[in-house]
Amino acid sequence: MQKLIINGGRRLNGEITVQGAKNAVLPVMAAAILCDGRVTLRNCPRITDTYCALRILKSLGCGGRFTDKNTVVIDSGGLASSEISDELMREMRSSVFFMGALTGRTGQCRISLPGGCDIGQRPVDIHIAALKKMGVTVTEDHGSLNCFCDGRLKGAEIALSFPSVGATENVILAAVTAKGTTELTNAAREPEIADLAEFLNRCGADIKGAGTSSITIHGREKLHGCEYEIMPDRICTATYLACTAAAGGEILVKGCVPEHIRPVSSVFEQMGCSVYTCADRIYLSSQKPLKAADIVRTMVYPGFPTDCQAFVMAALCKAEGTSVFVENIFENRYHHAAELKRMGADIRVEGKVAVVRGVKRLYGAKTAASDLRGGAGLVTAALSAEGTSEISNIHFIDRGYEDIETVLTSVGADIKRV
Ligand code: UD1
Repeated sequence: MQKLIINGGRRLNGEITVQGAKNAVLPVMAAAILCDGRVTLRNCPRITDTYCALRILKSLGCGGRFTDKNTVVIDSGGLASSEISDELMREMRSSVFFMGALTGRTGQCRISLPGGCDIGQRPVDIHIAALKKMGVTVTEDHGSLNCFCDGRLKGAEIALSFPSVGATENVILAAVTAKGTTELTNAAREPEIADLAEFLNRCGADIKGAGTSSITIHGREKLHGCEYEIMPDRICTATYLACTAAAGGEILVKGCVPEHIRPVSSVFEQMGCSVYTCADRIYLSSQKPLKAADIVRTMVYPGFPTDCQAFVMAALCKAEGTSVFVENIFENRYHHAAELKRMGADIRVEGKVAVVRGVKRLYGAKTAASDLRGGAGLVTAALSAEGTSEISNIHFIDRGYEDIETVLTSVGADIKRV
């Protein structure tokens, strides 16, 4: 089993270019099923979730592979199956996007309930309710979901009961080739949704309003392939800023969209860091002892992202004063707190609230990641701790970060994979 070994206490200095977005590439790869012809995706992160999506595509009969470091080419011409194995479905939550894409393309699919990080129950009831509105019959048997529609799906008026990111993307995937128009309200507004819509529009779809809470999709009979560049990863951008805030030093993150993480940057400013943005760059300097933050409440976009909660908490462990987190999106997203406490952090969790009292020092310790972003939180804390930390279960981190140790080494961290 691989581990990360981090010798903390080194300041970070330098520049990095951020990778392509995990949460954008996965739905776009599922969307490729809807296209006749080749899809070429640039700026794809080499993370295990991307490889899992490629394995799913292959299991369905589609061609899909990396043709150079960050380019993936997909050809869905050989699509021969609408069933995804339990093993592949369990590997990642994003396998759920194949439900909308497969049902849209073939009128049916059989998948098992998706897996992924253990951060809450993560049901798919909102996805299912929306598909049913489009004329899909959905049945469940022994942990499998069966979708069936006789002929093309029908456009519909759909109001989501909660602006779920995945459900919004599944509706878009199902609606682009449906008969008629779909009006989706209370849609999620995350930038990755606009990226998916932009990709599909380049393939001939007609989607308006993606990125807002009302999306209109005029169904098209056929879509074609295209070349597309995946948007930059806002969560990775925020991670490397958090690492620098915690360890001290200065970093320039290039190739990002600063606006996408404004609420996170504003927490770094409250902590006493200097943050400057221009065009596609963010500069952060952390020179003084950090200060506690106001209450950090996770919210849907454009609020503070739940995906940034763990590593911002890790950066606040040594801040002067008390910080409070309220996790409003997932009910079980504080696993990292127990691991941070092993390093000397003072964190109390009660339900959706975590209270972080700043301590003078963190100490290197043996910790284990229990989910992707929680794992990034352990890396953040280890960089600012005294002594050596060992982080196990790093397969979680590899799901979302391309070569995390190489990126951090390039800005002066002492981190290696063993
Ligand atoms: C996506 C992101 C994930 C991020 C999350 C919230 C991807 C691949 N993943 O996950 O990184 O943390 O958005 O920003 O893009 N819910 C239901 N029923 C449903 C669907 C969701 O109750 O049918 C609940 C979930 O349990 C959760 C909340 O709604 O409590 C938000 O989930 P959702 O927005 O769907 O997140 P994901 O799409 O799974």
